[in-house]
Parts: sequence; structure tokens; C-alpha cells
Amino acid sequence: MSKTRKTKAKRARPAAKAKGRTTKKSREMAVAATAESMAAKQRAISISEFFAKNRHLLGFDNPRKALLTAVKEAVDNSLDACEEAHILPELVISIKPVTESKFVLTVQDNGPGIVKQQIPNIFARLLYGSKFHSLKMSRGQQGIGISAAGMYGLLTTGEPVQIISRTNPKKNAHHYHVQIDTTKNKPEVVLDEQCDFELSTGTNVTITLEGKYQKGRKSVDEYVAQTAMANPHAAIIYHAPDGSNYEYPRQTKEIPIPPREIKPHPYGVELGLMYKMARDSSAKQLSAFLQNEFSRVSLRVANQICEKAKLRKTLRPSRMSLKQAEALHTAINETKIMAPSTDCIGPIGAEQLEEGLKRVVDADFYTASSRSPAVYRGNPFLIEVALAYGDKSSGGNGDPEKEPLMRLIRIANRVPLLYQQSACAIYKSVLDINWRNYGLSQSRGALPTAHVTLMVHMASVWVPFTSESKEAIAHYPEVVKEIQLAVQECGRKLGMYLRKKKRIQQEMDKRRYIETYLPYIGEALQDILTLKQKQVNTVVSRLKRVLEKSRKI
Ligand SMILES: Nc1ncnc2c1ncn2[C@@H]1O[C@H](COP(=O)(O)OP(=O)(O)O)[C@@H](O)[C@H]1O
Ligand SMILES: [Mg+2]
Repeated sequence: MSKTRKTKAKRARPAAKAKGRTTKKSREMAVAATAESMAAKQRAISISEFFAKNRHLLGFDNPRKALLTAVKEAVDNSLDACEEAHILPELVISIKPVTESKFVLTVQDNGPGIVKQQIPNIFARLLYGSKFHSLKMSRGQQGIGISAAGMYGLLTTGEPVQIISRTNPKKNAHHYHVQIDTTKNKPEVVLDEQCDFELSTGTNVTITLEGKYQKGRKSVDEYVAQTAMANPHAAIIYHAPDGSNYEYPRQTKEIPIPPREIKPHPYGVELGLMYKMARDSSAKQLSAFLQNEFSRVSLRVANQICEKAKLRKTLRPSRMSLKQAEALHTAINETKIMAPSTDCIGPIGAEQLEEGLKRVVDADFYTASSRSPAVYRGNPFLIEVALAYGDKSSGGNGDPEKEPLMRLIRIANRVPLLYQQSACAIYKSVLDINWRNYGLSQSRGALPTAHVTLMVHMASVWVPFTSESKEAIAHYPEVVKEIQLAVQECGRKLGMYLRKKKRIQQEMDKRRYIETYLPYIGEALQDILTLKQKQVNTVVSRLKRVLEKSRKI
């Protein structure tokens, strides 16, 4: 009995290993590794090697998206640089097809230009930038944008990134060709010369890359249009690959108030981070540490926190124990601290947002709302929303009467987000709202169906993106809540408009109904009271007037 079981087991798993030994077959295939042989292979991975292999993390997963991402990174930088230098941005975006799958992308701006020595690192080294270490609202964050686009171009076409930049009207521009050495994450300069440049200051970046141009919802065309909408202070000229030219003139000469760099707000700063900040701090006393390292902490508030935490004001932060940090952390969240100041975030503004929407959708009703700043994990942010109802050109598969799904435009720090809608906190927040309360029909787990365009903007000193490709916002409960409150406010106004519209419609219907019968009433009266035709006419017109008056009321 036991014998048969054994043979059966053998037959079923011919390549099975006896414990600790390999079978002959697998030994032929590979030599077993030892800790030493494994150690010989273990080494650090350069960030550029990592992202060259995982380019999807940066938004270069397919040729269509890659083209968009490259445009986006260059445009983000141009707008950021202009705003930082208080210059009204003038951008020229041009995409020339070389073959069906190869394009030459050029983005030119009238920004401050880039200092010569920095050009190689900026364009051919990942994780090199000016924005990562500061809490300030900007489009770029990670210092990985434009260099990743350049690396993608190099990997797919072998062409280096070309840069022309001028920082001083009295001096020549610099012309560089640079490429990234991915194993070292270091730039290689292929060409370095001086040249003429049509602008007194500014930057012109050219990347040759593999891509795919396709019109539609997630196209470069759409991205540029939405960018113009979210940046009414920018003038943008766009030469599309198919030969069409688009010009988006500037809508306002007001440069967005340059956002200020801020310290983190104490609410929501995680314990571990706060502990590290304390240990690294050169402040001599706890009270000073709280006031210096965080925003909105005055002497009074600092003292209150210390008292609540049962810690001495004079405690040296660098000698703090984890237990003390814990007490401090709890005390902070129990103390009333003023909300972060608004001037560190530059919202587009509810009015501007509504205006922007009017530029792209032709609707019957528009409304907008904006919230005051809130905080997630110590980072201030602000949500603003605009809504348009009744745009017959939108959706419905070309049938203007068929109700399409709501169109959602997501924007983060003035950058339109076109991909990963369903992974985004904005989408989830909008989905979880009961739109039937506002007079729209909605199936479970779906966006409402109506000719509605909803634009949601999150402005923050640090937008919590779900990945480096910056396509979707992470679901922080504080963020979701604020989005919902802002959207609901627009929803309520929409609901009011729709109810009023319905009431008017019903009244009109009634009126039409009565009007149809008025002549018959006249005839009947003529019969009963034997009136003359003239008297009938007077009665009918008087009744009509009464009807008219009641409608006005
Ligand atoms: N067109 C430009 N004009 C001026 N400075 C620029 C321009 N493009 C990039 N830079 C500088 O290069 C840095 C790196 O850019 P990037 O790799 O896109 O990272 P990030 O934008 O996240 O900081 C920016 O922080 C900025 O200081
Ligand atoms: Mg950038």
C-alpha cells in the first residue's frame, strides 16, 4: 500500500526536489547560487537605470502617452520658470512628425533662462531640480520631469536633448546637446557652443522621441486647450503634428500671485517626521523649535502645546525621546492652531475658472465655488470647482438629446490631468456624491449622466500624486472631503437652477394648454350669454392678459 503511494507521488512530480538537493535536470539548467556568488552581483541601482526600465512610472508607457508626457514636462517647466521670475508667459509648442512614430518636440518660453553650468544636470540627470526640497506651489516637484523626457527620447531615437537658453539680453545664448549616461545618472555633453536667440531671455528645448499623435480626449491638443484654460495669464501658440495651428491668447495680464514658500503646518505632520525634525533641529529650546520649524505657531501656541504635552519649554529638541515626541504629537493635534495662510497657494480663482470654462464649453448655466485652504499631512491645499450645464455639443455619441456621462476635467496646480481618471481622488469624490439630489440621473457607481462639464482644481504646496507620472491624486480623506464640499456647493446651485427651469417649463406647458382652450371658452360664453363677437374678443384677450400677469408673478 505504502509502495504504490510512493510511486504515484513520483510520477506526479517528476522534477520534485528532495529536501536540500536538486534533481539532475535542474542542476543542468543552473548552478545553485551561494551567498557569496549572490553578493558578487549585488550593487546599487542608478536611478536612471531604474526609471529606464520602469518608464511607465513616469508616464512613458505607450507612444501616445509618451508624447503627451514630454510636452507636459516641458510646458510645466516653462510656466513654472516664468511665474517664478514674474514674467507673463509666452509659449510656443511645436511638434513636427519625422515619421509616423517619430516626432521632434520643441517648447520655447520667454522665462528667465537657465544658467549655463546647470543645463547638463537639468536635462540629463534624474532627480535634479529646484523644487523638491521646498514647500511651495509649483507644477514640478520631483526634479525628474524634463530629464526623464530627454532620457526617453534618447532611448527611443538615440538623439540627444537640444537646449538653447539665454539668461542675459546683453550676452549670447548657449546652445547645448546633452544626453544622459543611464548607468551613472550623469550628463554627457555632446555639443556646447554660443548662438543667437530671438528672445532676450528664455529657453528652447527640443526632444526627438518615439510617439503617436492621435486626436481626442487624451490628446496633446486637449492638454494644450485645458492648459490655456487653467492658465489664463499665459499666451500659448501650438503647432500640432497634423499641420493645424492653435493660438490661445492671454485672457488676463495678472500674473498669479507668486506663491510663497512655507514651513509645514503642524496639523497632520506624522510622528516619525516630527521626531526627525526635532532630532535634526539646531534650536536650543522646544518652544523655539515649534515656532521656527512650523507655520502658524506663535509663542502663545507653542507654550500651549508644551503645556498640554507636559514637556518643558526649555527642553532641547535634539535630545528629545520618542516618547516625548509622541506626547508632543498628540498635544499638537489637540491644540487649536490657525489654518495655514492662503498666500502660499495660488488658486486660479472661482471667477477665472468659470471664465475659462466659458471659453471651451457653450452651455446654458455656469457656476463656480472655491473652498478656503485646508491641510493634509501638514500641507496646505485648496479646492476650487466650476460647473457648466447644458453643453449640447458634449458627448451623447453625437446625439444631442442623448444624455452623456458627466465630463470631468481634473487639474492639479494648474496642470490638466488626462490619464488615470478612475484612480484619482477627484473622480472618487465626484462619484460618491448623490447627484440625484441635484436633479441629475445617476446609476450606482458611475458618474451622473447629463450634459455637464465639471472642472476641479487642487492647488497645493505638495500635490499627493499616486505616482511619479503625476496623473492621479491620492485619496487622502481630508482632500476627498474638501473636493466633495466644493463640488456639492456647485451641485446645490445646479439643483436650484434645474428646479427653477422645471417649474418654468411646467408653467409654460400649463399656459400653452390654457391658451389652446381660450377660444373655445369664448365660444362657450358666446353660446351661454349670447355675446356679440366683439364682446367675445374682449373677454378672450382679457383672460389672456390675466394669464400673462399670473406668469410674471
Ligand atoms: N524652461 C526652463 N526655464 C528655467 N528653468 C528651468 C526650465 N526647465 C527646467 N528648469 C529648471 O530645472 C529644474 C529641473 O526641472 P525638472 O527636471 O522638470 O524638475 P522639477 O520641475 O520637478 O523641479 C527646475 O526645477 C527648474 O529650476
Ligand atoms: Mg518639471
